[in-house]
Amino acid sequence: MPAPETDTDTAAALDRALHEVLDPVPAGRLAPVVDRLIRDYRSGTVPSSPILRTADDAAAYAAYRMPATHAAVADVLARAAGRVPEPAEMVDLGGGTGAAVWAAAGVWPSLHRATVLEAAAPARALGRRLAEHAPWPAVRTAGWESAVLGPGTALPESDLLTACYLLGELAEPLRDALVDAAARTARVVVVVEPGTPAGYARVLAARSRLLAAGLRVAAPCPHDGACPVTGDDWCHFAARVNRSSRHRTLKAGSLGHEDEKFSYVVAVRGEAEQAPGRVVRHPQTRKGLVTLRVCSADGTLRDTPVPRSRKELYRAARDTAWGDPWPPAAPER
Ligand SMILES: C[S@@+](CC[C@H](N)C(=O)[O-])C[C@H]1O[C@@H](n2cnc3c(N)ncnc32)[C@H](O)[C@@H]1O
Repeated sequence: MPAPETDTDTAAALDRALHEVLDPVPAGRLAPVVDRLIRDYRSGTVPSSPILRTADDAAAYAAYRMPATHAAVADVLARAAGRVPEPAEMVDLGGGTGAAVWAAAGVWPSLHRATVLEAAAPARALGRRLAEHAPWPAVRTAGWESAVLGPGTALPESDLLTACYLLGELAEPLRDALVDAAARTARVVVVVEPGTPAGYARVLAARSRLLAAGLRVAAPCPHDGACPVTGDDWCHFAARVNRSSRHRTLKAGSLGHEDEKFSYVVAVRGEAEQAPGRVVRHPQTRKGLVTLRVCSADGTLRDTPVPRSRKELYRAARDTAWGDPWPPAAPER
């Protein structure tokens, strides 16, 4: 199978795998499980027992959440590409059904070995089955290790470590211990959390620890200083997810897409190729004027008006999206 060339292809390949593996499972059986998972994930509390306990739990997660977590992580990694060294080996903490491994393989053809450390056996089993359908050898050959991550867990060395939608399931001391361990063992550390105030707070705490450990921020921040997004605001971004008919049925939705909101940090040991600035809101467009809210390299947050009279810059501003670098530099995605 030829390797896909864009992250849109990654999402399509994942959708095909989900179709192959999940279509035999009746949607009517998964729908109540999806409702329970939505309640559990929205509760905002650290779970006292595993959320994914059965094969149906894992199937429901893969059907309604994995396309969205994959879209968020693929967006993050595509933005990190070119700013961090290309990885050959990755470790995915709390990897669930493998969304981050699919995303990394789609972004970096250099990836040849992936290890998923995951506590839930049903998630590992389903992740393995989905991976068999992946166009990338790195996904097909990924190692799925049974691991309950604890404060003393020794992490293997890696070029890339991902912890996506995991920290919210851990008590704060364990979150801190794992981020510190990641900083000691990985060259590039990626943390992705839901784009909520609580998710952002966890990302901010992880960012501080990664900086304290001597890493530098490669994205989204264009600086290593204090985050200027304060008060009632929180730094987050959005990735478009195409909903399959299975997804629409399970979430009782009619729209053909949804936007997955996420907060993230990518930190690197060594030099970071930081963006000159980052657009942290949807650009506001009025006739003849685009206004971008930009987090800048000097650590400030400003609304930056770009009037039509600035010709080329105005054209660039019209093509700029939430999450893009500003001013436009080398293409990121
Ligand atoms: C919300 S899911 C995210 C899965 C995947 N990273 C993704 O983005 O789709 C969180 C995962 O972390 C796993 N997990 C939670 N606590 C864990 C622990 N202490 N050790 C290992 N895995 C854990 C759960 O079993 C679950 O699969």
